[in-house]
Amino acid sequence: MSAARRRVPQNLINLLLDTAIFCAFLIATAPRLTGIAIHEWLSIAFGAAIVTHLLLHWQWIVGVTRWFLSRAQWRTRVNYVLNTLFFIDMTIILFTGLMISEVALPLLGVRVAPDRTWRLLHGLASDAGVFILGLHVALHWQWIVNALKRHILKPLFGSRRAAPAMSAAKEARS
Ligand code: HEM
Repeated sequence: MSAARRRVPQNLINLLLDTAIFCAFLIATAPRLTGIAIHEWLSIAFGAAIVTHLLLHWQWIVGVTRWFLSRAQWRTRVNYVLNTLFFIDMTIILFTGLMISEVALPLLGVRVAPDRTWRLLHGLASDAGVFILGLHVALHWQWIVNALKRHILKPLFGSRRAAPAMSAAKEARS
């Protein structure tokens, strides 16, 4: 199998996983909408998805870290700094979330005293996360549009356009 053929399913996996992470993050920013139990369990699952995402992009991380220290382009540097900031921010959100947990940790037998500072930090880090994620999406906009066209829109609607052309060709032959 050629390298180009192998890259296609990987892009599709990345597209689906990134979309799931994006939606989960937006839902996690609205605990009053979902209720606190869904908020906590969804966010913990979200943490697991982030780890998977990092492992899938591990080669990129190792490669860009080396490249960054030598002679990367400004776009790659911005991307790298944003990803690092998002990772640090996510760590703060998840840690402070666990420190104010009302459902998940008590269920596991761990109780932490309510603290206004953790809650404030949790809210602030979440706001910062929305901002960073917006920049991240903007920076990857072209990749997102291309992947959507190639893996979602073309397979769904591309064949419909091809169908009349094929039947016209059949008619012409008969
Ligand atoms: C992607 C991860 C997360 C995001 C984006 C997020 C976001 C937020 C936001 C925006 C609030 C409202 C803050 C405010 O009203 O000032 C909140 C509240 C809260 N979060 Fe999270 N959170 C995340 C993860 C977690 C985790 C992992 C836990 C615990 C296991 C958690 C537990 C809580 C609790 C207990 C509250 C207080 C709810 C209330 O009583 O108003 N969060 N979170």
